[in-house]
Amino acid sequence: MLEVKSLCKSFGSLVVTDDVSLRLERGERRVILGPNGAGKTTLFNLLTGTLSPDSGTILIDGRAVTKLPVEARVHRGLSRSFQKNNLFEGLSVRQNLALAAAAALGLGTNLWRDTHKDRAVCDVVGAVSEQIGLADNLDARVSQISYGNRRQLEVGLALANQPKVLLMDEPTSGVGPNMIQGFHALLKSLPRELTMVIIEHDMDLAFDVADKITVLNYGKVVFEGTPDETRASPLVNEIYLGGWDDHA
Ligand SMILES: Nc1ncnc2c1ncn2[C@@H]1O[C@H](COP(=O)(O)OP(=O)(O)OP(=O)(O)O)[C@@H](O)[C@H]1O
Ligand SMILES: [Mg+2]
Repeated sequence: MLEVKSLCKSFGSLVVTDDVSLRLERGERRVILGPNGAGKTTLFNLLTGTLSPDSGTILIDGRAVTKLPVEARVHRGLSRSFQKNNLFEGLSVRQNLALAAAAALGLGTNLWRDTHKDRAVCDVVGAVSEQIGLADNLDARVSQISYGNRRQLEVGLALANQPKVLLMDEPTSGVGPNMIQGFHALLKSLPRELTMVIIEHDMDLAFDVADKITVLNYGKVVFEGTPDETRASPLVNEIYLGGWDDHA
């Protein structure tokens, strides 16, 4: 579904993506772990096309997308949510989802058009709001909903593209402990055929949601395995000095 071959990227003399190769099957849920600065977000920027690699290949469904711009990759089924909030604060949950859905459907993103009344847009907004657990909050302004709900909406914006591959950069960052369990459940409830790549610092989520875990360190893939193999790996424990709990 998603394949990366020997991807490399440097900023000046700093090698940030160092010969990274990955292969994800359709429907696989992959969590990317790694210390701050390991190159996780950069890898997403390369996958989505906001950055160009120095060398290497990215394939979606067996077709190379390495030279395609961001929009063309979205049309091939690749969508992302961001590490930091990326929402229109003054608009409602419905309007935020409608704008994302309208853009994905090629209807334009004019804030003042009534795109949320379009049938196709309504269908996507309805389905996505159910998936992210915000169906009862559609008319709330983003500035009025909780931080955890905003992070859910962030995932919803990416889902509004109706992707085949969903990339999520720290979807639970800043989400309080009382909402974390719900967030895990939300991610696990997403359609099983959706391929997901999740950058995460929350170990519980990694172990709970992932089919497989990839660990990046200094831009390199240093480990790949199931959650059980990851827990048992001396190398991974060494990278996360002090044990898992300090980083959860
Ligand atoms: N545009 C850029 N120009 C120069 N250096 C950059 C750029 N983007 C990222 N870097 C550097 O690349 C390294 C990897 O950054 P990246 O954001 O990919 O790490 P990360 O694993 O996502 O970290 P975090 O866990 O803190 O989000 C860091 O040293 C960062 O300072
Ligand atoms: Mg990052």
